Amino acid sequence: MISSDDDGLAAPFRLFRHDCLSSTNDLAKELAKDGAESWTVIWAKSQKGGRGRLGREWDSPEGNLYCSIVIDVKGRLERAAQISFIAAISLYDALKDVAPQVDFALKWPNDLLSDGAKICGILLEREGDSLILGVGVNMESAPKTTLYLASSLADRGVRVEILTLLQRFCQRLFEWERIWREQGFSPIREKWLSHAMGIDGPVKVRLANGQILPGRFYGLDAEGALLLDTAEGIRKILAGDVFFSNE
Ligand code: BTN
Repeated sequence: MISSDDDGLAAPFRLFRHDCLSSTNDLAKELAKDGAESWTVIWAKSQKGGRGRLGREWDSPEGNLYCSIVIDVKGRLERAAQISFIAAISLYDALKDVAPQVDFALKWPNDLLSDGAKICGILLEREGDSLILGVGVNMESAPKTTLYLASSLADRGVRVEILTLLQRFCQRLFEWERIWREQGFSPIREKWLSHAMGIDGPVKVRLANGQILPGRFYGLDAEGALLLDTAEGIRKILAGDVFFSNE
């Protein structure tokens, strides 16, 4: 049963809480198809079919944050992928708000790490003129068997109410999205780069077709693609997984 609780988040956000869903992204997509407005937020305590990037599963026991936010991108569809960077820097700011003592770093395209281990994941999907921004934050627990090392806020000694983090995140997201609409991608790119991990260092990128490309993390292009300095010159990577030398 859906319950709407307008006290949970400040306007214009509209929060729908659930105990357990298959995937908050799936419900957000359905609502977007039925005309849900921008800033509709679906939050579940747990998920049975949580999904990650590139068709992976996202382990979703109780205790962590699982939410999906509908964002109307009519007229901005060609730049909509940049919202994943907006989400990453908003999560970064929200986490620094609640845990200023912890070091966090951003990893291309949209992971958030602490001490080299993944703490948050972002999954962006499209439904008509809306984007569905799915966010998972390991608060109480982290999965043991992942492609990357994973960690949780609890592992870092941080205990925060899930709703508190969600509120901070939505507030930051709203602010950064406005900056993006008014000033374009440049301030987002700058902020992302200022907290990015491994710039100028050696990396391997695994492309969606499985090919592994070694190189140096040269930076981000003006649209957010990863620039990889390889033996054959600079390559622009639009999708893939980045591995640092210690992974
Ligand atoms: C990743 O692979 O890093 C992205 C993980 C995204 C997980 C979140 S949890 C809330 C939302 N619902 C889902 O099914 N996935 C996203």
